[in-house]
Amino acid sequence: MRRFVSMAALAAALAANPALAEDRTPQAFVAQAEAAYAKTSVEANQAEWVYETFITRDTEALTARAGAKMTELTVANAVAAASYAMVPGLDYDTGRKLNRMRTMIVLPAPVRSGAAEEVATIQARLQGIYGKGQGTLNGQAINGSDIEAAMGTNRNPAELKEMWTSWHDNVGKPMREDYTKLVALSNEGARELGYADVGALWRSNYDMTPEQFAALTERLWQEVKPLYDQLHCYTRGKLNERYGDAVQAGTGPIRADLLGNMWAQEWGNIYDIVAPPGAGDLGFDTTRLLADKGYDPLRMVRTAEGFFSSLGFASLPRTFWERSQFVKPRDREVVCHASAWNIDNLDDLRVKTCLKVNADDFVTIHHELGHNYYQRAYNKQPAFYQDGANDGFHEAIGDTVALSMTPGYLVRIGLLDRAPGAGKDIGLLLRQAMDKVAFLPFGLLIDRWRWQVFSGQVQPADYEKAWNDMRLQYQGVVPPSERPAGAFDPGAKYHIPAVVPYTRYFLARVLQFQFYEAACKIARWKGPLHRCNFTGSKEVGERLDAMMAMGASKPWPDALEVFTGSREISGKPMIRYFAPLTRWLEQQNRGRQCGW
Ligand code: ASP
Ligand code: SER
Ligand code: ZN
Repeated sequence: MRRFVSMAALAAALAANPALAEDRTPQAFVAQAEAAYAKTSVEANQAEWVYETFITRDTEALTARAGAKMTELTVANAVAAASYAMVPGLDYDTGRKLNRMRTMIVLPAPVRSGAAEEVATIQARLQGIYGKGQGTLNGQAINGSDIEAAMGTNRNPAELKEMWTSWHDNVGKPMREDYTKLVALSNEGARELGYADVGALWRSNYDMTPEQFAALTERLWQEVKPLYDQLHCYTRGKLNERYGDAVQAGTGPIRADLLGNMWAQEWGNIYDIVAPPGAGDLGFDTTRLLADKGYDPLRMVRTAEGFFSSLGFASLPRTFWERSQFVKPRDREVVCHASAWNIDNLDDLRVKTCLKVNADDFVTIHHELGHNYYQRAYNKQPAFYQDGANDGFHEAIGDTVALSMTPGYLVRIGLLDRAPGAGKDIGLLLRQAMDKVAFLPFGLLIDRWRWQVFSGQVQPADYEKAWNDMRLQYQGVVPPSERPAGAFDPGAKYHIPAVVPYTRYFLARVLQFQFYEAACKIARWKGPLHRCNFTGSKEVGERLDAMMAMGASKPWPDALEVFTGSREISGKPMIRYFAPLTRWLEQQNRGRQCGW
């Protein structure tokens, strides 16, 4: 990979960190940089945790300060790393760490004085706007986690439209100017580090060139797209039957607020609308089971922990239970969007969630714990390797486990009394596809939009238009309301203001089926793939741990091989999992005009 660092940036970095100017070996430089990174990242974690669990003017200022310090350090390290990387004959780890020091930065700032503070201040403000965000329902204010849940259960088109529109107007719109400024500033930073723009920097973090990575995502998308097209076609037909032409036409795109999710990213919540007659009644609904058995949020977390324990992983530390935020506090503003933390990079594991007792959040807590077990598995790696094999791996672990929450599993943990027979398989697969398959184009388009925003292909005046165009192009959905001038709908999705790259979720969606298929093979599962439940398999646990313990010390294909035996990411396991449903959907859609 070619990378040029501007001399001005190098000079500024040297001025900021005179130690760099000393004549040191690359090894000595890496050791010093790694120690400083480890220390500063803990301080940044602490400030950010307090901010996100207690949003005030003061905590916002504190996290911006800590974030700025972290950015200054990582950018200075990255600039210096670029020159050390040119030293011939580097050993493997020194070379890999020098490379990681450049590629692991998500939001760079220019080196000039004050720029890191400016970036960190904007980012904290955006995060706060999202955290405090509210919509309305029947004219009454409704907070983020409540509106998210209500979008899943409400079936009144006018109310859905009100919630969707108010959320996008209230939360997204105020971010527009700040976001534009953030793009310009971080791009300037990326260029100083030798990247074309921030998008190119993000695409450089996958042990291949940015071009190869973009091509990889396109190959995977083409593998799975036919399945999405079938699901879209079938779902649109059912929505048309349910709501009639005036609300949802039988052709063209789907109204985004009718799909059971604020962002139309996962559709499982409207399973009741699309369920096939007869085979459709699964005999259970996870949300209802949780309520019937008297689950509370803590018990959901304990149950998720139990799955990992059954694979042989040590229990979560006592401090996890003491320090996590499991439910929305009543008396203060917080960022509700779920996340998993390792504050001290050792064993101070925590989740920050606003759990509700429903099926979505039951999956989410498995997802978050997947992050925590990964973080713990690599905590003996040096700081620059304390990361997933790539970010898609990190997102995939908990989801893989959640795929194993089959009816058989629910019976095993006592949630369900009796598993439905084989006659219900189409229903079970359709329920999964509504979440897993529906997500694919969404998982892809968030960063395709950002890649174009960062590259300048989409200019600020067109941010909203490009967003809606891509939502239509990839997902085949449209907003339920005319978007007002100055709208900034991307800001209404957490990962835009929080600046979390999103292609990781697309990769994870594909990878989790690859991991799941591999786990089922290791557990010697016999039977249809979608019924496989690998709970209790110590062999799966050991293999998983072997992969996770590697952290980012080796290129990701090495890690993939350790668990699955393959070095290629592939959409084929996902296609195999859904094969019976694909045939069924094709039959249902016969005679329909699919596409939009
Ligand atoms: N951290 C998760 C996602 O953003 C939370 C969720 O599933 O809601 O990946
Ligand atoms: N957790 C991610 C999100 O909420 C992907 O499912 O968007
Ligand atoms: Zn996650």
